[in-house]
Amino acid sequence: MTTVGLAGLGYWGPNLARNFDHLAELAWLCDLDEGQRGAFSSRYPRARATDDFDEMLADAALEAVVIATPVPTHYELAKRALEAGKHVLVEKPPAMKGAEMDELVSIAAERDLVLMPGHLLLYHPGVRKLKELVDSGELGDVMCVYTNRQNLGIVRTNENALWSLGVHDLSVILWLIGEDPSEAVAHGRDFLTDGVEDVVFCYLRFPSGKIAHMHLSWLDPHKMRKMTVVGREKMVVFDDMELERKVTVYEKGPWKQSEAYGEWQTRSGDIHIPKIDTSEPLRLECSAFLELIRGEGELDRRTVAEDGAMVVRALDRLTESLRG
Ligand SMILES: NC(=O)c1ccc[n+]([C@@H]2O[C@H](COP(=O)([O-])OP(=O)(O)OC[C@H]3O[C@@H](n4cnc5c(N)ncnc54)[C@H](O)[C@@H]3O)[C@@H](O)[C@H]2O)c1
Repeated sequence: MTTVGLAGLGYWGPNLARNFDHLAELAWLCDLDEGQRGAFSSRYPRARATDDFDEMLADAALEAVVIATPVPTHYELAKRALEAGKHVLVEKPPAMKGAEMDELVSIAAERDLVLMPGHLLLYHPGVRKLKELVDSGELGDVMCVYTNRQNLGIVRTNENALWSLGVHDLSVILWLIGEDPSEAVAHGRDFLTDGVEDVVFCYLRFPSGKIAHMHLSWLDPHKMRKMTVVGREKMVVFDDMELERKVTVYEKGPWKQSEAYGEWQTRSGDIHIPKIDTSEPLRLECSAFLELIRGEGELDRRTVAEDGAMVVRALDRLTESLRG
């Protein structure tokens, strides 16, 4: 069994601890906070506890490190873990600057280590279905993708809506389209806390001509977790607020009698609701990390790390646009 050390036992870390305790050997727990360490040591008595990340890294028997500490610490901790020869799963986003992420990707590649960003939605069976529909060509040419991640609250004060909410949607948009955007524009406003945008609208254009949009907000009457992919043949909606209809495929599209003449018309056919597996996305993410370490499964190390870099680069550019 793979030996795993977890750094960060705050809000999210315990979910990772539960999964890795089930799927691997949870060998270390690391947190600066004594109370958190105490609470989780009694829950996982076989794991060693420390406040010193380097003490954990010095364990030669430790194969993998999972990082769920605050975002500004990710790059530094991930770099130290990779340099110590450990495979790394790091919560999103793994770095705050494109150049920092590129550095992590090259250290991982040089040492043939796994560097996996914790982009949870990429392991969601509903999002996997979207990807399958796009890649199989069932939707026809994808023209645009747009996402809605809105609610009233939680009002954050140290991370804006782009970094807190947008990173999820961005990871999916870039994964579906598979291109670095040629244009990345963001507009937003900091209504509640100076310098922390509560509402952000982002526009992306890709070299292939596809376009995407994200509406990100914690000042909104609707609770929305929705993604829409518009293809020439079919259109599909992933709605994570739905329990049984996570994905809906619409046989709708534009239509012309003759390519050269004829006026554009529209057609609508059946509406299809595929069955979506209800497995916990985090369990699937943790399993995918362990499979990458073992060299099993459908993912490949290089692609997973480089997809993460594409997300950080786009976040970096959107942040520049937002501030500019
Ligand atoms: N994938 C998801 O859906 C999801 C959801 C929530 C949070 N997250 C991510 O998880 C990460 C942590 O978020 P959170 O809400 O749990 O934060 P948090 O502040 O609740 O917890 C962070 C913990 O890290 C500890 N810590 C800080 N610096 C440390 C260090 N150098 N070494 C060891 N421990 C250290 C803190 O003591 C704290 O217990 C963030 O990157 C966040 O984006 C992901």
